[in-house]
Amino acid sequence: MNKKFYITTPLYYVNAAPHIGHSYTTIAADTLARYMRLSLGNEFVWFLTGTDEHGQKIQRAADAKGMSAKDFVDQTVLQFKDLWTTLDISYNDFIRTTEKRHIDCVRKVLSILYEKGDIYQDKYEGLYCTPCETFWLESQAPDSLCPDCKRPLERISETNFFFNLGKYQDWLIGYIKKTPGFILPQSRRNEVLSFLEMNKLSPLCISRPKERLSWGIPLPFSSDHVTYVWFDALINYISAVGTFDDQGKYHSDWWPADLHLMAKDILRQHAVYWPIMLYALGLELPKAIFAHGWWLIDNTKMSKSRGNVVNPIDMVNKYSIDVYRYFLLREVPFGLDGNFSEEAIIKRFNSDLANDLGNLLYRTLTMVEKYFQGNVPVAEARSEQGRRIRQKIEALSREVGEALSPKADYNFNLCLEKIWGLISLANKYVEETKPWNLAKENKTEELKAFIRLLVDVLRKTSEVIAPFMPQTAGSIAQQIGEDKIKKGNPLFPRIDTNKPAL
Ligand code: ME8
Ligand code: MG
Repeated sequence: MNKKFYITTPLYYVNAAPHIGHSYTTIAADTLARYMRLSLGNEFVWFLTGTDEHGQKIQRAADAKGMSAKDFVDQTVLQFKDLWTTLDISYNDFIRTTEKRHIDCVRKVLSILYEKGDIYQDKYEGLYCTPCETFWLESQAPDSLCPDCKRPLERISETNFFFNLGKYQDWLIGYIKKTPGFILPQSRRNEVLSFLEMNKLSPLCISRPKERLSWGIPLPFSSDHVTYVWFDALINYISAVGTFDDQGKYHSDWWPADLHLMAKDILRQHAVYWPIMLYALGLELPKAIFAHGWWLIDNTKMSKSRGNVVNPIDMVNKYSIDVYRYFLLREVPFGLDGNFSEEAIIKRFNSDLANDLGNLLYRTLTMVEKYFQGNVPVAEARSEQGRRIRQKIEALSREVGEALSPKADYNFNLCLEKIWGLISLANKYVEETKPWNLAKENKTEELKAFIRLLVDVLRKTSEVIAPFMPQTAGSIAQQIGEDKIKKGNPLFPRIDTNKPAL
C-alpha cells in the first residue's frame, strides 16, 4: 500500500494499573490516528496498542497477589482495555504478548536468527538488575547499584543465549546518519547516535533460564530457557500485522510501521535493538520512532515503581474525557517533560475551554436565536476584520496538517495554539463589533455577515478539534452544524476555583 499509516504505542506492562503516563502516549497516538483517518480515509489507517505480559516484573506482581501469572495478566489487561474505552481510544487492534499469533511469530524470529548464527549460546557471569531485567558490567556499576533505577544488583552466573548486536553496529550508525527523520525529535536522534559512536554494543542476552523464570515464551532451540521479555515484546509490531511463511519470508499489508510512539525511557530498545533485529531478519525498518517526554509529579517521573501515580479515571470523572485529552496535549510541547497538577488542568479549563471556546459557542448560538430565530444567516464577510478572519478559517486546516507532521515533531501543542488563535480572534471580533448596536441601528446585512462568520469559525473549529476532542467536536457540530441551530447546555461551565471541583 502506498497510501497508509500504521501507528503503534508501546505494549505496556500489565504489572499494575495504567497511569497518566500510559494514557498520554495512547491519547497522542489516537489523535494522530484520527487525524490520519480524516485525511487518508478510514481503511488506510491501522492503530495498534496492547500489553506486554511476560517477564520477571509480571511474575513478581502475580506472586505478590498469590495468583498464577496467567490469571494475573488476564485480570490486569482489563484495566487497560477499560481505560482505553473510557478515553475514546480508537485502536484497530489490541495485541497481548500471551496470544498465540504473537508467540508463534516470536519463535519463528528466534529460529531464523539462530539458524543464521546471529543468536548463539554463552555463559554469563556478572551483575543483574532484576526489576529492570538488565545486565550490567562491573565497570558500569562500581557501587553494585543499578545505574538506571539505583536498586541493588544481584550477582548471577548462568548459561544463556545472546544476540550479536555488535555485528550490525556500524550499519545502524550509517543508517541513522543518512535517514534524518528516523529518530525524532532531533535531540533524541543525536543522543542515540552519540551513544552508538561512544560505546561498543555488547551482545544482548535474549533468554532467561527456566529455573529462574519460567513465565516467558519457550525458546525453539532450548528447553531450558524462555525468551527475554524485551526481545519478545518488540516483535509485537510485526506479529500483529503479518506472518512468516515456511520459507521464513514475512508477509504483511501494513509493515513497515509509519510511526512507533513512546517516551524516552524505552528509546534505546526501539532505536537500537529493534532496528538491528529487523535488519538481521531482512525486514524494512519503521519510518519513524518518536520519543516524547515524561509526566512528572513534583519534578520526579510518574511511575508504577515509584508509586507516585495519578489514575486517569479519576481525572476523567472530575473533568471529562475531552478536557483531559485536551489538557495533556495542550499543556506540554510534545517531546518535553511536564509537571502534572490539577491546578494546571483547572487553569486551562477556565481559560481555554470555558472562557474561549465555550463562550464563543454560547454567545453565537444566543445571537442566532435572538436575531434570526435560530436560522443560520447566509452572508459574505464585508469588513476588513471579517475578511481577515475568513482567511484564517481557510488557512487553518493546512496549518493543523503542518503542525501535526513529522517535520514539526507532531506538535500537538502548536496545533491547538493555532486553533485557539482563531477562537480568540473571533471572541475579540464580537467585543469590537458590538452586535447589539448593529441590531439597534437595523444594519441587518452587517449583522448577518458578522454572525455567519462566527458560525463558520465554530464549524471549522469542530472539524479541526475532532481528532483531539471527538465528543466536543460532535457536540458543536450538533448544535451549530445545520441551517437551524440546536442550542444545548453550555459546553464547559466554569470551575469555581474557590471551592474544589466536585
Ligand atoms: O516499558 N510520562 O512498558 P511500561 C510519559 N513493556 N509517558 C509515560 C510515563 C510518564 N511518566 N510513564 C509511562 C514498557 N509512560 C515495555 C514496553 S514496547 C514493545 C514494550 C508511557 O508499562 C510511555 O509511553 O513501562 C513509556 O514509554 C511507556 O509508558 C512505558 O510503559
Ligand atoms: Mg516502565
